[in-house]
Amino acid sequence: MASTQDFNGKWALVTGASAGIGAALARELAKHGAKLILTARRRDRLETLAAELTARGTEVRIVTADLNDPGAPQKIYDATEGAGFTIDILINNAGLGQYGAFCASPIEQELSQVRVNCEAMVRLTRLFVPRMVERRRGWVLVLASTASFQPVPYISTYAATKVFDRFFALGMAAEVARFGVKVTALCPGPTESEFFDVAHAGAFKGGNVQSAEDVARLAIAALARGQRTLIPYFRGRFRAFLIRFLPVELITHYVEKTARPA
Ligand SMILES: NC(=O)c1ccc[n+]([C@@H]2O[C@H](COP(=O)([O-])OP(=O)(O)OC[C@H]3O[C@@H](n4cnc5c(N)ncnc54)[C@H](OP(=O)(O)O)[C@@H]3O)[C@@H](O)[C@H]2O)c1
Repeated sequence: MASTQDFNGKWALVTGASAGIGAALARELAKHGAKLILTARRRDRLETLAAELTARGTEVRIVTADLNDPGAPQKIYDATEGAGFTIDILINNAGLGQYGAFCASPIEQELSQVRVNCEAMVRLTRLFVPRMVERRRGWVLVLASTASFQPVPYISTYAATKVFDRFFALGMAAEVARFGVKVTALCPGPTESEFFDVAHAGAFKGGNVQSAEDVARLAIAALARGQRTLIPYFRGRFRAFLIRFLPVELITHYVEKTARPA
C-alpha cells in the first residue's frame, strides 16, 4: 500500500520553494523524511527555509535559477541528478499570474507565464522523468489550478497555462504509470501565498482562502497514493463538477462581468 513513508530518505526537487505553496510543499515533504533540493530565484528566501529545515534534521541543497531562462532546467539538472543526486520526487510548482485586460498587459509578464508555468515545467519533466522510468520509481507533482477548468477572462494567459499543466500531467500520468512513476495534477483554489500580489489579482482572491499548509498536506498525501487529480478544497471540487454541465460560453460571460477591472 503506497504511503508517504515511501518518501523517507528520497531526494525531492521543489521549484518555487522560496514562497507560498512551494515552501509549504517542501516543509511537508521534510516531515515525511524526504531530503530536499530547493530552487527559485531568491537565494535569501531559500537559505532561510534551508536553515529551518536543516535545524529539524533534513538534508537540504539550494540551486538558484530563473525559469524564464530556457537553459535553467538543464542547469538545475546538472547541479542535482547530473551531480549524483537521485531525484525521485519532482515538484513542478514555480509559477506566476497576471491580472488585467490582456490588451494593456506587459507582454513580458504574459510570456513569462508561458515560459515558467509551461515551458520550464516540460523541460524539467523531460530531464528528470526518464531516469525515474529507468529506476521504475518516481513521483511528479504539477501545479495546475481550479482556473484550469474554464477560460478566465482577465487572467486569460494564466488560465490557459494551467489547462496546459493539468492536461500535460494527466497525459504523463497515463504514459508512465506502467513504469512505476506517479503523476499528480494539483488544482488549488485561492490559496494564501504571494501569488495575488505578484499577479495584481486581489479581485480573484475572495474571502475563502485556503492555507498553503493545508494544500501541501493534502497534495503530498495524494501524490503518495498516485491520485491523478487533486482539487484540495470543496468549493473548487463542486465548481469543477458543475462546469461539466454548463455551456462554457455562459460561464465565461459571467466571469468576464464579475472579474472585469474597475
Ligand atoms: N495561490 C493560489 O491561489 C494558487 C492557486 C492555484 C494554483 N497556484 C499555483 O501554485 C504555484 C505556486 O504559487 P504560489 O501561490 O505559491 O505563489 P507565490 O507565493 O508567488 O510563489 C511562486 C513561486 O514561484 C517562483 N517563481 C516565480 N517565477 C519564477 C522564475 N522566473 N524562476 C524561478 N522561480 C520562479 C517564486 O520564486 P522566486 O520569486 O524567488 O523566483 C516563488 O517561489 C503556481 O504554479 C501557481 O500557479 C496558486
